[in-house]
Amino acid sequence: MAKEKKILEIEDLPGIGEVSAAKLKAAGIDSLDKIATMPYAELAETAGITPDAAKKAVQAAQESTTINYETGSAVFERRMTIDKVSTGSADLNEMIGGGVEAGAITEAYGKFASGKTQLGFQLCVNAQRPKSEGGMDGSVLFIDTEATFRPERIKEIAKAAGMDPEKVLDSIYYVRAQNTDQQILTIERADKLIEEKGIKLIVVDSMMALFRAEFVGRGALGERQGKLNMHIHKLQSLAEKHNLAVYLTNQVMDNPGILFGDPTTPIGGNIMAHAATTRLYMRKSKEEKRIVRLIDSPSMPEGECVIKITRDGIKG
Ligand code: GTP
Ligand code: MG
Repeated sequence: MAKEKKILEIEDLPGIGEVSAAKLKAAGIDSLDKIATMPYAELAETAGITPDAAKKAVQAAQESTTINYETGSAVFERRMTIDKVSTGSADLNEMIGGGVEAGAITEAYGKFASGKTQLGFQLCVNAQRPKSEGGMDGSVLFIDTEATFRPERIKEIAKAAGMDPEKVLDSIYYVRAQNTDQQILTIERADKLIEEKGIKLIVVDSMMALFRAEFVGRGALGERQGKLNMHIHKLQSLAEKHNLAVYLTNQVMDNPGILFGDPTTPIGGNIMAHAATTRLYMRKSKEEKRIVRLIDSPSMPEGECVIKITRDGIKG
């Protein structure tokens, strides 16, 4: 009987051939540790293999790596000191557990004019407030993929918050990304800026617009998801390493496959779905009102609340 091969590299995993290994590496997944902690569906999508094969590969990766244990109390201690940025709405803050959390990714998706960008502007202002006032005492990196950044709106919101509008704008580092390579590179190279400028919030508005425009058709989907996965992993690791908050906006498509309920689905597939720690679905209501639904959160129950988009920012 042939001796079982020792698993040392990702190519040694069952079901991962040369082609899938290349796809994974292109997506920045280059170690057994990374595969051991991947959701099955995400691995299947990135490597272009069946969910069943993905499950076997993840399990084999887990068996071949060592596990670092930490006590529950240690994790609790750490979580108690996590910074949170206020959204401007007490109800929304409460629904998501106190505000937009550092060390994690928060995603807001919804149709046009649902308020995703406006919430991003409010967070840009609030992140600069002192910690005792619902802020993070930090600056902001804003990646704009749709040319909808409006400094004049931010000035209005800052003024209403009793802050110096010029100073607030001076602490926002803005990049207009024209293609996915530029979007990805901005994040790949962000470490230095984060450290030098004390960035505590990264906004990507919108996360998927350029990916959606560049990778058209079924054939391009695998490549798109691989690139997206790498980009998201980098954002997640920046969030954890620098203890900063990441706020992403996302677009939606109508999903005719859903017969009952709201057929609106965020784009980006499983990779986007797993990326965000907290997922918010925003909907237009009457006049300035917007309904925000908490879709996914590790510690808070699903819920809904109403916010208002006003001249002075997010309220309610
Ligand atoms: P897309 O990027 O197109 O997908 O939409 P979005 O979800 O980012 O929408 P956005 O956050 O840009 O919200 C736009 C809405 O905010 C519109 O309904 C505007 O009327 C409203 N809005 C923008 N500025 C103001 C303002 O100064 N006062 C009030 N009351 N509403 C505003
Ligand atoms: Mg927008």
